[in-house]
Order: sequence, then C-alpha cells, then structure tokens
Amino acid sequence: MLDLIKRTRSYRRFDNSRKLDVKFMSELIDAARLAQSAANAQPLRYVTVCGEEMCAKIYPELRWAGRLKDWDGPAESERPVAYVAVYADTQAPAVANPVVDSGISMQNMCLYAMEKGVGSCMIGNCMKKEINALLGIGERYNLLWVVAFGYPVENVVLTECTGDVAYYRDAEGNHFVPKYKSEDVLLGSL
Ligand SMILES: Cc1cc2nc3c(=O)[nH]c(=O)nc-3n(C[C@H](O)[C@H](O)[C@H](O)COP(=O)(O)O)c2cc1C
Repeated sequence: MLDLIKRTRSYRRFDNSRKLDVKFMSELIDAARLAQSAANAQPLRYVTVCGEEMCAKIYPELRWAGRLKDWDGPAESERPVAYVAVYADTQAPAVANPVVDSGISMQNMCLYAMEKGVGSCMIGNCMKKEINALLGIGERYNLLWVVAFGYPVENVVLTECTGDVAYYRDAEGNHFVPKYKSEDVLLGSL
C-alpha cells in the first residue's frame, strides 16, 4: 500500500492515444462514492468525461502546474483522456463537510486508478463557470475540483524537502516533488 501511495503522484503528461472507457469511469465513481463522509451526509456529486470531443473542450479550462512558469501545460498528444468533475450539492445538510469529503473521495479515485496504471492530477485552478456550462450543470451544484486521468508518460520523482517545497523539472523533463521528512511533520510520538 505504501508503494501505491508513493506512486500516486500528480501526473500532467499522458499518452493521449490510450483512451479510458465508460466502465473504467464508473469504477472510479464506485471508489469515490464509497469514501468516508462526515455524518455520512454524502454531499458530493460527479460528472465523468471520457469522450474525445468533450475532453478537448474541458482541457482549455484547466490550469496546469502554476509553479512551472515556462510550461504551458501538456502538448496535444500528452493531454488527459478523461476527467471527473467533483461537485458539492448546495442542498446537502449543514453537517456535511464537502471539502474534506472531496479530498478523501478524490484520493480513493486516484489510488484506484494508479493501481491500474492510470495516472491522475487533481485540479482546483480551473474556469468553473465555463466548465459548468460545458457539462450542463446548474447553480444547485458547486464545482469543487476536476480530476484528470490518463496513462502517464512522465517520470515523477519524490525527493527530500530541504526547505523549498516548490516542485521542479530537470532538462530531461523529469518532474521532482520535494516532500518533508517524517521528523519534519511529526510534532510528537508518545
Ligand atoms: C486540492 C488540490 C488542488 C490542486 N490543484 C492543481 C491545479 O490546479 N493544477 C495543477 O497542475 N496541479 C494541482 N494540484 C496538484 C499539486 O500541485 C500536487 O499535488 C503537488 O505539486 C504535489 O505533487 P504530488 O501530488 O505528486 O505529491 C492540486 C492538488 C491538490 C491536492
């Protein structure tokens, strides 16, 4: 399991010729809907997209790797082949905690996908109004995140964080992600 967690990185370059089908998308939604939920209120709703045409329309509404200033996002042949839009139902009961719930449900999807060799990237920086219009979702539902999926074609490497948390790439395009060490994040161990 720890190995799967280590491999479940944010991937931003995919093999666009390897598509994902409706069955896989419904498996992702199973992984999402079975997640823990505050008060079991289950306030989240989803839209899946794996059709080529709609994927092409969603892509320009997403913002990739804000820290990589000289990179405009994946080339056409490396774009995601599927998306899951994660919504909060504004009519959910007050005890619901959609933001926390969505983190858990997205991680369930990402772990499930990675176990099948499919990479993912959670995206919060996106054009919500435009995406709602494309997906035909009205005001009752609040778009929280979009998760992108596809078979990765990039090498993502975990490194030890020595102060700067910014991810970076080397000249060969390897993507490095600095993570704090256990002793940096552990306030106590009694
Ligand atoms: C809530 C959330 C929102 C994110 N939004 C974006 C985004 O808008 N664009 C993007 O390229 N990456 C986004 N990411 C991916 C992070 O940049 C990524 O998790 C971070 O660089 C660490 O890399 P790792 O996921 O491989 O550990 C997001 C991640 C999370 C958890």
